[in-house]
Amino acid sequence: MSTRPRTPGHGAPAPGKLPITELAEMKQRGQAIAMITAYDAPSGRLADSAGADVVLVGDSAAMTVLGHDSTVPATMEEMLVLTRAATRGARHPLVVADMPFGSFQISDEEAVTNAIRFVKEAGADAVKLEGAGATLSRARAIVAAGVPVMGHIGLTPQSATALGGFKAQGRTADKAVQLYEDALALEAAGCFALVLEAVPAPVAARISKRLEIPTIGIGAGGATDGQVLVWHDLLGLYDGRSPRFVKRYAELATTIADAVSRYVDDVRGHRFPEQVHTYTMPADELAEFEARLGEDGQGAWASDTSAGAAPAR
Ligand code: KIV
Repeated sequence: MSTRPRTPGHGAPAPGKLPITELAEMKQRGQAIAMITAYDAPSGRLADSAGADVVLVGDSAAMTVLGHDSTVPATMEEMLVLTRAATRGARHPLVVADMPFGSFQISDEEAVTNAIRFVKEAGADAVKLEGAGATLSRARAIVAAGVPVMGHIGLTPQSATALGGFKAQGRTADKAVQLYEDALALEAAGCFALVLEAVPAPVAARISKRLEIPTIGIGAGGATDGQVLVWHDLLGLYDGRSPRFVKRYAELATTIADAVSRYVDDVRGHRFPEQVHTYTMPADELAEFEARLGEDGQGAWASDTSAGAAPAR
């Protein structure tokens, strides 16, 4: 029997919402969990209609949406706005808000306060925290406050500098054992799921086999209990170089650039708008309008200075 504390819920799930407990059942059934990031209402809605189980409002938004070079600058206020928008679009998937750098590092108390903000102000179902070590106590505190927590180890972008850059983790026996122990500790701290990012496939496989909670891999091979990809990577929307673990399912940046440049050409060439894009009005109303203005636009109404008349300009 598990010694892991039960994850208390913060309320009944909305109708049609995937219950959080379903993820562990999916793991038991060997049913893969599909998670994807989304940062606004349209992407949340599209992820929902495509059948995603979990939508992560990742702090990757700092890079994909806000134009920063790393995830570190993402703020609570920015993440709240993005999460609020994503939850308006994603009704059925679980929505997990990524706690940005600085929002949970200082103390358990501050971490709980910020986690609760994501639930109360932005409608998130859960939060995600990077790291182990000090994060363990934060995870315990947030879970105890009633907010489900997803862990995240391996390549943790918020500490990429300390890790020596955006590179795979756990590639020595020592480091792999550390990852394994961190994974167990996060499960014991009450996490309901764990992201494994950029770790060797055999290490991710051993962790996934050992944990009762589901693992969600990104660059962690095919033996994790689910997969996650970043919206902009999957759709070919991000103009930076994608990591090797990304599979692009579309090249939307090219499609968008082509569409926008055709629009610009059409405007310059007076080919847009066409008749079909234009509103008309009844002929008699138009005739009266023209008559009132007169030929030079200085019609009768313009010289009428009586009360209520439109001012002449
Ligand atoms: O911020 C993010 O999008 C993430 C995923 C890559 C797991 O943390």
